Parts: sequence; structure tokens; C-alpha cells
Amino acid sequence: MKEIPTRFLALAAVAALFGMIWGIQMSASHDYTLSPAHGHLNLIGFVTMSIFGTYYALTPRAADRPLAKLHFWIATAAVVLLAPGIVIAITDRGELLAQIGSLLAILSMALFAFTIVRYGVGPFVAAKTDGQEN
Ligand code: HEM
Repeated sequence: MKEIPTRFLALAAVAALFGMIWGIQMSASHDYTLSPAHGHLNLIGFVTMSIFGTYYALTPRAADRPLAKLHFWIATAAVVLLAPGIVIAITDRGELLAQIGSLLAILSMALFAFTIVRYGVGPFVAAKTDGQEN
């Protein structure tokens, strides 16, 4: 298994590739019906995954925790379910998948917020007054 930053950034790049091809397909066909799904694939898939991956690369003590693996799988499930879920919702075939994807996306962001507060940002930990590290 690859390291956490590599996993996040590799998935981000794959999402961007699909998202951009999708954008070109929309432009070529002049059919923009699914543009919200394209936008979410790029933003949830590429932008947020890239930020998560960069954070974990900067903060190895957070990347080494089991929570980081859980975060990766929840964030991945959010991308994989949300983009098709929006397509299905836009084409009036139900909203369940988009709803599940949205809940996973918000759970992923909540885990990210918790991780930042718990482990901080960057490779160094602030020394406590007794001289011990966190
Ligand atoms: C090859 C690259 C890309 C192409 C050809 C492309 C193309 C498009 C097209 C044709 C639209 C629809 C515009 C309209 O409805 O008038 C669109 C919408 C959008 N794109 Fe892209 N795009 C690309 C990359 C990206 C990236 C990298 C992001 C974000 C990081 C992004 C985010 C969005 C968003 C947020 C929308 C608006 C969605 C909405 O209206 O609901 N796109 N794009």
C-alpha cells in the first residue's frame, strides 16, 4: 500500500483527468446539463483531495495514524458516490446516491478538521513547558 499523501494525490490526479475529459466532452457536445457533476468531481475529487494529500505530506505524524487511512477511504467513497449521484439526481432518477455521497463528503471534511486541530500542521510539534513533545 502506498503512503497516505501519495494515495490522496494520485486519486486527485485521476479525478482531475476524468473531470477535465468530461469538461472537454461537454464543450464539444455543447451539452452542459451535467456541469454540476463535472464541477463537483473536480472540486471534491481534485481540489480537496490535493489539499488533504498536501497536508499529510507536510504533517507526517498525522499521516502515520490509522485515522488518516479511514479519512482516505471516506474521502474516496465520497468522490466515487457523489459525482455519479449528482448525474443521477440531475437526470431525475433519484437522489439517494447524491445524499450518501454528500454525507460522506461532510464526514471527510469533519475528520480533516479534527485531524488539523489534533495534530496541527507541519512536521514539527511545539515543545511543551516541561520540555516534552506532544
Ligand atoms: C480541461 C479542463 C476543463 C474543461 C474543458 C472544463 C469545462 C467546463 C464546462 C464546459 C463547464 C460548463 C459551463 C457552463 O455550464 O456554461 C464547466 C463548468 C464547471 N467547471 Fe469545468 N472544465 C475543466 C476543468 C475544471 C476544473 C479543474 C475545475 C475545478 C477545479 C472545474 C470546475 C467547474 C465548475 C465549478 C463548473 C460549474 C459547474 C456548475 O455550473 O454547476 N472545471 N467546466
